[in-house]
Amino acid sequence: MSASAEMPYFIKPSKNLNADEKRAAYEQALQGIEANLIGENNLFVKMSTINCLLKTFLPYYYWVGFYIVHEGKLLVGPYQGTLGCLHIDFSRGVCGRAARERKTQIVADVHALDQGSMHIACDPNSQSEIVLPVFDADDNLIAVFDVDSSVKNSFDEIDKEFLEILLKKEFSTPMLITSYSLK
Ligand code: SME
Repeated sequence: MSASAEMPYFIKPSKNLNADEKRAAYEQALQGIEANLIGENNLFVKMSTINCLLKTFLPYYYWVGFYIVHEGKLLVGPYQGTLGCLHIDFSRGVCGRAARERKTQIVADVHALDQGSMHIACDPNSQSEIVLPVFDADDNLIAVFDVDSSVKNSFDEIDKEFLEILLKKEFSTPMLITSYSLK
């Protein structure tokens, strides 16, 4: 559960975009991501940069982040937003379903789902959601990419199309460094 249902000072309520506004916003965000990740092959640097620039340009990105596949579960990875759940079992939530089915999940109203099994409400302000599987160069599932909006019906096929292309481009690369020593 999030620390509080009240939106913290650093987060504004989501604002939906029409199709043209959405495409323009994604074009801007993806230009920034491409420019900043040229030659980058570190998983966590990529994830952190993608979170930051998508949240900068898409006004309905209330919570954005990655859950990383670790020992058969999903472990919270780099994200921006209120407190995210730390561990998610593949059998639970929208994230678990995206991982199990290896398919993008778009949810217009998360509160229409069975809470706890079909949807996990890390933050009560979350109203709609998209979750995409993330694959490496060998088509192994390495993470899921999760975006929540604080208003309903924020996500559609345009989000799916742009995000699937972005995630394939940035993570299905043979040289991806997925861990590093802090020594
Ligand atoms: N809503 C997700 C859980 C992650 S929080 O949204 C960050 C789910 O149902 O899997």
